[in-house]
Amino acid sequence: MRRVLIGAAMTPAQRQLVETVLHRFGPKAATTDPQAIAPWLSDWRGRYHGQAPALLSPGTTDEVAAIVALAADAGVALVPQGGNTGMVGGATPPADGSALLLSLRRMNRIRSLSPESNLAVAEAGVILADLRAAAEAAGRRFPLDLGARGSATIGGLVSTNAGGTQVLRFGTMRSLVAGVEAVLPDGSIHNGIAALKKDNRGYDLNQLLIGAEGTLGIVTAATLRLVPGMVSRAVAWVGVESPASALALLRRLEAGTSAVESFEILPDKTLELVLRHVPGTRRPLASAQPWHVLIEAVATDAAAEPPAALLERLLAPALEQGLAADAVIAASEAQAESFWRIRHSISEAERAGGPALQHDISVPVEDMPRFMIEGGAEAEARFPGTEAVAYGHLGDGNVHFHVRAPAGVDPAVWYAEDGPRISSHVHDMVVAAGGSISAEHGIGQMKRAELERLSAPSRMTVLRAIKAALDPRGILNPGKLVALAPDAASP
Ligand code: FAD
Ligand code: LAC
Ligand code: ZN
Repeated sequence: MRRVLIGAAMTPAQRQLVETVLHRFGPKAATTDPQAIAPWLSDWRGRYHGQAPALLSPGTTDEVAAIVALAADAGVALVPQGGNTGMVGGATPPADGSALLLSLRRMNRIRSLSPESNLAVAEAGVILADLRAAAEAAGRRFPLDLGARGSATIGGLVSTNAGGTQVLRFGTMRSLVAGVEAVLPDGSIHNGIAALKKDNRGYDLNQLLIGAEGTLGIVTAATLRLVPGMVSRAVAWVGVESPASALALLRRLEAGTSAVESFEILPDKTLELVLRHVPGTRRPLASAQPWHVLIEAVATDAAAEPPAALLERLLAPALEQGLAADAVIAASEAQAESFWRIRHSISEAERAGGPALQHDISVPVEDMPRFMIEGGAEAEARFPGTEAVAYGHLGDGNVHFHVRAPAGVDPAVWYAEDGPRISSHVHDMVVAAGGSISAEHGIGQMKRAELERLSAPSRMTVLRAIKAALDPRGILNPGKLVALAPDAASP
């Protein structure tokens, strides 16, 4: 039987806008079909659900500009969306249907890719995996990588200043963006797409748009930096006693080479969760280990020491001295991929593993090992029955610190009643350690109240002033990141 979905009702202003868009840009540019809209109303984790009476899908920058100008005139709110893989509910529309979804997915052209200048210009809807493949075909790499590479888009990555598993070597999106083209909230086009090595015309609008989560403008394209292509790589899986040994191992490797591009940590509990929920995954090491580290070393020059030999040479003394307890270097590309698959499937396993509260946190790198152990123990002691796990980007001082619900709880009740207390406690620990409550996923709707609670008033005043200056009517992504007025903040 066909399921009939009842769409959100449209206001006259919304209806007028949708009709104008259909009339001017054709049937691909807008839909009000509830079945077509439904998949885009909830976030990837299924924590946030919204309503939108229409989904707008412009095909060009000029169409985006025209839509935003119409929306600004009519006071119609828009929620920009790329691949909808965000982790903080940033692309989920409000529950009352007061905003229209603005998908950039149709704008998926790589406008240019130059191995000479090591730059690519990609439209907002280009999928990360496609950009990576295009760069590779040209003998270069776009290094940023994450588990959602098959759906996440350039516009979303720019707008969240995404991180991922290569930040250690190449930085976050911010260091990989050389130019931005965007439509501002009044419908004007900001053309900052040229990759200028030097540009001191005052405040940098490109930088402001990176990480703005669609609250200051709609990113329509970006110029992205490429790095040298890979000649060969080695991927090692190493068992370690503790996060402290892991960080000491990283420092040891860094003293011996600059070829290490990734260094990711996970506790055995997380590996077990992946093995349980992700078909085809296997334990990389025969021995039982409390903590695991995945290391990737890359050669970009044929004359360089082969990465496998390099890792073997550097890991041997670390094993002898007890910095590492066990290690295996992938013997083939297939095995290397199988190690990476474990790492990139953690979110999928977590989603299948039951209710948990996610905290995407950073503290100074050298303090992270202690935070992982002591913070985890403190959270578990204070909230009996919970299990705290931390995994991720140790070398960036950023882990995903998740608190899993006690067995048998009703997820909705636990999220509503215990969730805020637990998350506030974790965030308090992070702030006490001088850290950030959002290292890479952003604020979205998930952390808005916590951002308000834990930020210096001066910081919030500046954020609000920027929002008010660019988007005084609050039409772009309302309810996300920062409210125009403090009392409008929703939890
Ligand atoms: P969406 O989810 O559609 O949107 C994200 C935000 O950007 C929203 O606020 C939205 O309004 C805004 N936005 C989207 N497109 C535009 C645009 N063109 N202009 C203006 N605003 C826009 N993130 C990391 O940082 N590191 C990781 O390691 C990582 N791993 C992940 C693994 C998995 C399995 C999953 C599901 C997610 C992971 N993420 C990670 C989170 C996510 O992939 C990133 O936040 C990504 O940048 C989102 O891209 P998207 O196209 O899906 O954006
Ligand atoms: C990761 C996502 C959750 O690092 O950021 O897997
Ligand atoms: Zn991450």
